[in-house]
Amino acid sequence: MGAQLIDGKAIAAAKRQAMKTRIESMKAQGFVPGLAVILVGENPASMSYVKGKIRDCKEVGIYSELIRFPETVTEERLLAEIDKLNEDKTIHGILVQLPLPSQISEQKVIQAIRPEKDVDGFHPINVGRLVTKQEGFVSCTPAGIIEMLKAIDVPVAGKHVVVVGRSNIVGKPASLLFLNLDATVTICHSKTKPLSKYTQQADILVAAVGREALIHAEDIKPGAIVIDVGMNRNAAGKLVGDVAFEEVKEKAGFITPVPGGVGPMTRVMLLENTLLAADRQNK
Ligand code: GUN
Repeated sequence: MGAQLIDGKAIAAAKRQAMKTRIESMKAQGFVPGLAVILVGENPASMSYVKGKIRDCKEVGIYSELIRFPETVTEERLLAEIDKLNEDKTIHGILVQLPLPSQISEQKVIQAIRPEKDVDGFHPINVGRLVTKQEGFVSCTPAGIIEMLKAIDVPVAGKHVVVVGRSNIVGKPASLLFLNLDATVTICHSKTKPLSKYTQQADILVAAVGREALIHAEDIKPGAIVIDVGMNRNAAGKLVGDVAFEEVKEKAGFITPVPGGVGPMTRVMLLENTLLAADRQNK
């Protein structure tokens, strides 16, 4: 294998370890950071994500509340719950697991969360703060990608970063983060033709589309840093990314595995954002 693996699992574990110490000293001063997670319905993927988030909180010592609603819950009821959590002094971060059922407007729900408690970084106020390079909250996956690059000591300034995917959760905020770090950024999407013309120019390639084997060895520049955000099930039911890992790893300089790459970083950044929210609200 040519590329060095970026071990997101190990980087995230080290971050959690450091957080434990930080939280212990917060607690010694009588202050406990708290996260509320709202889950609507019984989508198996959402249930599994939420379980992981609650488990992570327990591990590092963050107080967490899981609030569950049936699939049939009204928008009004959900918004009332968010209002309550906005006022709750023991809760510093609020996360509503997406997707939500069709009777509920995701944008209304996101915008009901106080921006200071929006640890997902989805509120338009926080998105605007990212655009204008102000202090706010950045969504967890893009923030985790930057932390991974920091962990392997890769400077971003002046690099050509190609982001494939333009979602509100990953592609757009990742592009803005890289831009704020003085990278030259190209954003590609489903209408980009030919995709490989752009991906081949990337010093850092971020694949965040959700399609198995979208990126092959011929699509990258030798020695590129390849960040795979994809989480797809292949025909055998195995979790795979957007990158054809076996062939790309022979040509890349660094590559993230799936699983064990970006996923654990996303999870740990939620804890980081919760601590950040708690610190800011405790001032
Ligand atoms: N559903 C899939 N990813 C996410 C995420 O990062 N945050 C929330 N709230 N829901 C999600």
